[in-house]
Amino acid sequence: MTWLQPRAQGCYLDCTIGLGGTAERILEASAPDGVLIGIDRDPQAIAHAQTRLQAYESRISLFCENFQWVKSVMSLANREHADGILFDLGVSSAQLDQPERGLSFQQDGPLDMRMNPTHGQSAEDLVNMLPETQLANIIHALGEERYSRRIARAIVRVRRQSPLRTTMDLSRVIRQSVPPSYRSGRLHPATRTFQAVRMAVNDELGSLQTGLDEVIDVLAPGARLCVISFHSLEDRLVKQAFRRLAHDAPDEWAILTKKPVSPSVEERRVNPRARSAKLRVLERKPGWGDAQAGRGHA
Ligand SMILES: C[S@@+](CC[C@H](N)C(=O)[O-])C[C@H]1O[C@@H](n2cnc3c(N)ncnc32)[C@H](O)[C@@H]1O
Repeated sequence: MTWLQPRAQGCYLDCTIGLGGTAERILEASAPDGVLIGIDRDPQAIAHAQTRLQAYESRISLFCENFQWVKSVMSLANREHADGILFDLGVSSAQLDQPERGLSFQQDGPLDMRMNPTHGQSAEDLVNMLPETQLANIIHALGEERYSRRIARAIVRVRRQSPLRTTMDLSRVIRQSVPPSYRSGRLHPATRTFQAVRMAVNDELGSLQTGLDEVIDVLAPGARLCVISFHSLEDRLVKQAFRRLAHDAPDEWAILTKKPVSPSVEERRVNPRARSAKLRVLERKPGWGDAQAGRGHA
């Protein structure tokens, strides 16, 4: 909230509304008449947020969409600009904790992992159909998993006998394919592979790149874009997008976070899932549009 600075009469865009917690804070801070446009690609998240935010019904519009279509969403909401935009990337706790979503290697469930279970290919499709090299590349690039080749080889060997159908099927293969020392390490041996498969299933980096490109045009002068990421590749993408803008048009853009903001020790203690979060903030400079108009008249 400190970075986003919601205020009365403002229009705020929450591109990842999830359970609606952050949206609720924005609505409180922008009372009595700030409005919020919320997006999430997960239909369950939208339903949940709708119920949670009932008290603010007249001030919210929710859309079940991939945020890469943010401009279309804005025109559906009859808005051209927003006074603050938030991306809180990744998956929500609700998604992680529901075994039937297939996102957790700690609970057995179908190998799905789609944030929108009605769209696209599931993790089961991907894991059983991709060629070994492609599988290894995904696990390596998106999971930064050093045993990616071994894991991909083992998956292909097992699926020849019988397809992998559940999260436990996948988790078991991973466990059996890595060295014993890795099995007993601090991180569960399936962590990185599950993350990689999830990111590939949902094309998370592709959506983020398009979403960032689109959302830039939506920022009003003086508005801030806040992006919270949980993965080094996402953070790099955000950092590079911000740097490019600030470099190419320094009169228009300011990066407000020279280094990404990380959760405090206390926050990490009470909410361990936030431990790898990184927040970066970009501002379209106040009065930028006026300066342009002035130049145009001169
Ligand atoms: C970390 S949660 C957001 C939590 C939220 N700030 C809250 O207070 O509950 C991330 C949410 O983003 C959604 N999401 C991820 N990628 C998306 C995309 N490309 N388009 C739309 N929603 C997306 C997920 O479905 C998930 O609900």
